[in-house]
Amino acid sequence: MNFLEERITKDGIVKEGNVLKVDSFLNHQMDIRLFDQIGEEFKKRFEGTEINKILTIEASGIGIACVVARHFDVPVVFAKKSKSINIEGDVYVAEVESFTHKCKNQVIVSKKFINPEDKILIIDDFLANGCALQGLISIVKSAGASVEGIGIAVEKGFQTGGQVIRNLGYHLESLAIVDSMDAATGEIKFREQ
Ligand code: G4P
Ligand code: NA
Ligand code: NA
Repeated sequence: MNFLEERITKDGIVKEGNVLKVDSFLNHQMDIRLFDQIGEEFKKRFEGTEINKILTIEASGIGIACVVARHFDVPVVFAKKSKSINIEGDVYVAEVESFTHKCKNQVIVSKKFINPEDKILIIDDFLANGCALQGLISIVKSAGASVEGIGIAVEKGFQTGGQVIRNLGYHLESLAIVDSMDAATGEIKFREQ
């Protein structure tokens, strides 16, 4: 097991409905030393890839992305979730459906902050169905920029997002891939990587 799988095993809590609670260290209270290790690991996994910007999505992607960005020495842009229908023309927009929250959000990034020459690393805390990720990819495409890589802390391997994104040819690195979890026993099985 790697450092993140070990931490999930120790402090993650399996809830009914295939929900993994990691709010004591990842997406509510945040363990900054763990985030720093995550940054170091992504820096290794994307060694040799030219990256000049990190893109993430609010809320819980932001903390991780900022610490990861220190390892790449690049700025972070986060996509904002917006419920408003009247969105001004100076932003890129993508529609993102949340299965967990059963709602649709528009996700926006100001056109000022993504340019055609940008080489982008997308960072997020979770990958489940991949809707958030598809939204971020579509924003990068709208800007004419390129997605050089995608770094995810926790992928739920039994949901479809990871496979879809890999089949599209993206370089996706997930530090922990959960293949199954059991709310009754608390057991979490990780994919061998
Ligand atoms: P998707 O983006 O991969 O399609 O995910 P989905 O709609 O299924 O998930 C909606 C939200 O729930 C996302 O956060 C996602 O990160 C989070 N999520 C999905 N599965 C789990 C899980 O097992 N445990 C935890 N802790 N989170 C999970 P969000 O609401 O869009 O963003 P945020 O404001 O929480 O960052
Ligand atoms: Na998230
Ligand atoms: Na989340």
